[in-house]
Amino acid sequence: MSFDIGKNIHLTIFGQSHSKAIGAVIEGLPAGFRIDMRALKAFMARRAPGQKGTTARKEADRPIILSGLVDGITCGSPLAMMIENTDARSKDYEQFRAVPRPMHADYPAFVKYGGFNDIAGGGHFSGRLTAPLCFAGGVCLQYLGQKGIEIKAKLASAGGVSGKKMQECLEEARKSGDSVGGIVECCITGVPAGVGDSGFDSLESSLARILFSIPGVKGVDFGAGFASAAMKGSAHNDAWCFDEKGNVKTKSNNHGGILGGLSTGMPITFRVAFKPTPSIALPQESVDLKSGKSTMLEIKGRHDPCIAVRAVPCVEAAAALVLCDYML
Ligand SMILES: Cc1cc2nc3c(=O)[nH]c(=O)nc-3n(C[C@H](O)[C@H](O)[C@H](O)COP(=O)(O)O)c2cc1C
Repeated sequence: MSFDIGKNIHLTIFGQSHSKAIGAVIEGLPAGFRIDMRALKAFMARRAPGQKGTTARKEADRPIILSGLVDGITCGSPLAMMIENTDARSKDYEQFRAVPRPMHADYPAFVKYGGFNDIAGGGHFSGRLTAPLCFAGGVCLQYLGQKGIEIKAKLASAGGVSGKKMQECLEEARKSGDSVGGIVECCITGVPAGVGDSGFDSLESSLARILFSIPGVKGVDFGAGFASAAMKGSAHNDAWCFDEKGNVKTKSNNHGGILGGLSTGMPITFRVAFKPTPSIALPQESVDLKSGKSTMLEIKGRHDPCIAVRAVPCVEAAAALVLCDYML
């Protein structure tokens, strides 16, 4: 999986959930940039499995740098890293080759790759591939931090509830063998006005493109988003004003910090909707591709009761890659 983030950064993510390793190659980072590995590992740990309310799979997600860094400083050559997969239980997955999981990628992947796709752990469709994404985005977050740009995301709701009720809801989903969806809210501050582009490379297009590449993402909206469709212009319009330093601002932020694909200098705000985890322990209807008959499927193994919990740093990482590309 490889894509140009925009004009400057090219990111390749490789590996499968249960292959020997997963990793990333990042091209386009400036030379002479010192990476704070401790901070980067702490950032990646927020995504790692094994935390409360997430899958029981235990992976340290320790990044091993292969090239591109000399004494902790980028040298201009592509930054390549890998993470070993150590806690894989592939036998849990073999049945999904013939009996695809509802709502997972097993069936379309079977068709696209003629049955040769790696089914173990979801292959390269696994949420595990967001670990190298977090590495790449974590590096970009540090670069942006030096320029006064901060990206902070949080879990705003899970299973339709927010605040203290979320933990209860997650626990209930786990206990009953079910899963829930969630919404991650993100806010980017410190971006000066005029960053972005019009048309296909608009800031919104670029952010949405990479956010939708995170497995499980089903919706992205900016500022007032879908709610703006029910508003009047007089209520939705953000009035321009000067702040105490004479900078142009808006009094409200329904536009979410982006107009015409360009940043306005206001915080860039967006929300990302994650669907409930497809793999649930409850019996579900599926088909047997070998016998051509309908069948029931019972999924064993270790799964996240709510993808959105571990996806919070993935959203920050994705946004950082896009912003970094524009800022370089
Ligand atoms: C951090 C993270 C963890 C995930 N964990 C699981 C999991 O434990 N079980 C599962 O079935 N799907 C999990 N997913 C979601 C699937 O990878 C995803 O739903 C699947 O690949 C289909 O892609 P789509 O939902 O984008 O269409 C996870 C996704 C992320 C981002």
